[in-house]
Amino acid sequence: MTIEVTVRRPRVFSGVQPSGTLHLGNYLGALRRWVELQDEKENYFCIVDMHAITMRQDPIELRRSTREVAALYLACGLDPQRSTIFVQSQVRAHAEGCWILNCVTPLGWLERMTQFKTKAKHRESVVLGLLDYPVLQAADILLYDAEEVPVGEDQKQHIELTRNIAQRFNHRFGDTFTLPQAVIPASGARIRALNDPMKKMSKSEAHVRGHAVQLLDTPDVIRAVIRRAVTDSGREIQFSDAQEKAGVNNLLEIYELLTAQRRDVIEEHFAGKGYGMLKKDLAEVVVEALRPIRKHYDALIADSAELDSILAAGADRARAVAEPKIEEIKRKVGFIVPQDTT
Ligand code: TYM
Repeated sequence: MTIEVTVRRPRVFSGVQPSGTLHLGNYLGALRRWVELQDEKENYFCIVDMHAITMRQDPIELRRSTREVAALYLACGLDPQRSTIFVQSQVRAHAEGCWILNCVTPLGWLERMTQFKTKAKHRESVVLGLLDYPVLQAADILLYDAEEVPVGEDQKQHIELTRNIAQRFNHRFGDTFTLPQAVIPASGARIRALNDPMKKMSKSEAHVRGHAVQLLDTPDVIRAVIRRAVTDSGREIQFSDAQEKAGVNNLLEIYELLTAQRRDVIEEHFAGKGYGMLKKDLAEVVVEALRPIRKHYDALIADSAELDSILAAGADRARAVAEPKIEEIKRKVGFIVPQDTT
């Protein structure tokens, strides 16, 4: 007798909020790495529009931004044949999963989330969705039994929370969820703001002049933003963990990631040269890296019907995994699940 065993490739889930234009940090910390995973893993890359309404949004702008992120996914090299690319709100299981997970998640766990505390600070009124944000994120990941979640450093706490929620559910209702692992790169996990190296480059501040290189910036804008990048009063162009060298280190890290050169080779290349030269060279490297992305993006965004149909096909594929999973979850908690759910 022969026993057939199907080994599935490790599953990967990750997402981006369509809440502003994507920047170099999103690219280096997330998107570029997702492209590299495509052949090795089974990938689910989501545009998390339900997360984007936890802050006040303009409906027309949200729709535009959702298509923009989708086009950028494709322009950066994600291939809808090899990766499932979809919009979160088109797969109902995410909202249903979030509700059920809400009912096993202690409030205190959410109140401790640093991203919530930062976003809620200085606001007179905070919507419940903002507090609940990480539970929706947990539902995103757990519905697909994803083993790996490639993200930047800022998402680490949310992935740990996802594991805690999964463990709590498994403990109460029996083995249901795979425990996911955050996959955070050694370099590029936290690209810093160009106008303030003490802060991370962030979508919510990307409109502030000099804060970020946005993926769709023109070559002239990229050159101007990098020329103005805040550094320090020294001259040494070396990788360093020192606080006061954070600005230069950030520029070097971006250079390293985009040229794939070794650190000692980069330091030798810039030995004896000033910060002006580093900025000039880096600007050209960034311009060349983003040029094909922008070109591909322009072609994709011009045909929104084609884009929408790629997203609709992606949602079908995502549902094929998320639907049976949400039924399993519903059965576990005691809901009556009709036999035929289609
Ligand atoms: P978002 O939209 O803020 O960011 C998308 C991805 O970009 C990474 N990132 C950075 N990486 C390096 N340097 C930076 N300065 C930088 N800024 C952002 C983020 O770490 C992220 O990987 N909550 C998530 C979206 C989400 C999600 C999920 C992610 C919803 N559900 C499930 C993974 C799995 C967010 O707001 O990402």
